[in-house]
Amino acid sequence: MKIDISRPYPYYIRLHWRSFTLGLIALLFTNALDAIAPLLIGMAIDGIITGRPFGDVAQIVGIVILVTLALAVCRFLWRLFWGRFHHTVAEDLRNRLFAKMTELGPTFFSRQTTGGLMSLINNDVNSFRMAVGPGLLILFDSIFILLMVPVLMWKISPDWTWRCLILMPTVPFIVRSILRRTEQAYRAQQMRFAEMSGAAQEIVAGIRVIKSYAQENNQTRLFNVFSRRYADATLNVAKIDAAFGPALEIAAAAGSVILLLVGSGSLVSGAVTVGQIFAFYQYIQKMVWPMEGIGISFSHFQVGKAAFQRILDTLNQPLDVPDLGSEKLSDIASLEVKNLNFTYPGASHPTLKNINFELKKGEILGVVGATGSGKTTLADVLCRLYPTTAGAISVNSIPIENIQLENFRSLISMVPQDTYVFSRQVGENILFGHLADPGYPISEAARWVKLDEEVEAWPDGYATLIGERGVNLSGGQRQRVTLARALIRQSPLIIIDDALSAVDAKTAKSILENLRLRLREGSRCAAIVISHRLGHVAWTDRVLVMNNGQVEALGRPEEVLRQSPTYQRLHALQTQEAMG
Ligand SMILES: Nc1ncnc2c1ncn2[C@@H]1O[C@H](COP(=O)(O)OP(=O)(O)OP(=O)(O)O)[C@@H](O)[C@H]1O
Ligand SMILES: [Mg+2]
Repeated sequence: MKIDISRPYPYYIRLHWRSFTLGLIALLFTNALDAIAPLLIGMAIDGIITGRPFGDVAQIVGIVILVTLALAVCRFLWRLFWGRFHHTVAEDLRNRLFAKMTELGPTFFSRQTTGGLMSLINNDVNSFRMAVGPGLLILFDSIFILLMVPVLMWKISPDWTWRCLILMPTVPFIVRSILRRTEQAYRAQQMRFAEMSGAAQEIVAGIRVIKSYAQENNQTRLFNVFSRRYADATLNVAKIDAAFGPALEIAAAAGSVILLLVGSGSLVSGAVTVGQIFAFYQYIQKMVWPMEGIGISFSHFQVGKAAFQRILDTLNQPLDVPDLGSEKLSDIASLEVKNLNFTYPGASHPTLKNINFELKKGEILGVVGATGSGKTTLADVLCRLYPTTAGAISVNSIPIENIQLENFRSLISMVPQDTYVFSRQVGENILFGHLADPGYPISEAARWVKLDEEVEAWPDGYATLIGERGVNLSGGQRQRVTLARALIRQSPLIIIDDALSAVDAKTAKSILENLRLRLREGSRCAAIVISHRLGHVAWTDRVLVMNNGQVEALGRPEEVLRQSPTYQRLHALQTQEAMG
């Protein structure tokens, strides 16, 4: 029978059976040694009271010392093996989640917050780890103790045993009810924490806006409110938690009081020895923990079950674009788009309607259109970020569904409209998609995008560290870094989505000229250049004008100027602007 991760306990126990079993054996020995210790000490006490020869008593004491040492070793071993077991489980789950997140597409991420995803990888994985690790361990520990200690107690006195233990079965219920309250308070605390860290994250990310609007004090006050709520929630957890210890002490004390009541008569009459009373007293104390433990482990299981369900739901999320194709291409000779319609998942109206065009190697296609007309959507669909009807897009006459996804993506370099730079060095950012050849001359790529002079003037040059989300780069520098990153890959198709919007007209013009030279050089690749500015697409071979998700016109720049009202309007507007 195949056990998969949807049944996590058998799955992980089987996967790591060695550390699991060794941990369990070490635990069993710990419990056994721990159970006989009071009996031995009781015997030693009786030996001393009854005046047995010193040698006899010393022998018992020697055994007690040996047992104590062996106990220490066993305790160390079960911690070691079980620690390895549950931490490996957590590592595996974290890595699975992360790998899945890298596969998932925009549909999934548009429904998630960063805080939610972080909580999944941290809190939920940890909650499940607590169930499969400490939860299982405490359960086994409790069962072992419950199987051993009452037997030893029974041997001393069956009558005392039932009298002293009669109240014990109530302990798991008391523990469960306290823990249920703790869990509720703990969940509230986690929510407050998420709220507070979310606020902090947003404030830090938007610090420039906050400063420019002089909102520092308001934002600080807002943060203080979240911080106070979190502190209150934490205090609430601590309050309920504080009731836990005393409740259990009462249970243990009740057992001890009963022992004093029922045992003193037998002691006076000489039916039992002081050592036996001592051992029995110790056993009562030991019986509290397994009762408590059963409550605790079930609480771990319950919290872990909910957490694992959330993990499993994410692991089972369907991919936007399943990777079912098997064809592998090394080049793009032509790209054909036929009757392409596209509706965003969950949207009621199509965003792209009946799009048709063809792009050949060496050709450059300009795409223009009003804001919201579907240009970025077209670029995303061409990169297969979203699924489309089969056969609507083909490369070299092969429908893209039949092409292996990773192979397909390696053929296209995309410069997205919302540029993203990593908080690493400038050079690393440029080489991002080209890691196979780290010796590649970055300066050459920087020259193509007119970034070389600026970066080389910095003291650290290409080794300059970019702050988080590129805060120490200008908008135009950020755009040029992402442009260089795409160009350096030398893919057969490059798609540039309005990636020159933050660059001044003169720099943009020389970048475009370089780009044209590079693209035309031996007709190595094709390009799609999306822009708001007609100047950026005027030098392309053909221009596709988008209007409300449809192709309004397609042809050479001078042709579309004649045919397309949108193009004419943009042309009039931008000529006017240029004349100032
Ligand atoms: N994830 C999404 N889900 C649903 N609708 C979306 C999504 N992304 C974009 N849209 C919608 O699709 C339409 C086209 O958006 P798109 O980003 O393609 O326009 P665009 O032509 O690139 O605009 P701009 O010039 O401003 O960049 C818009 O009406 C937008 O609201
Ligand atoms: Mg866009």
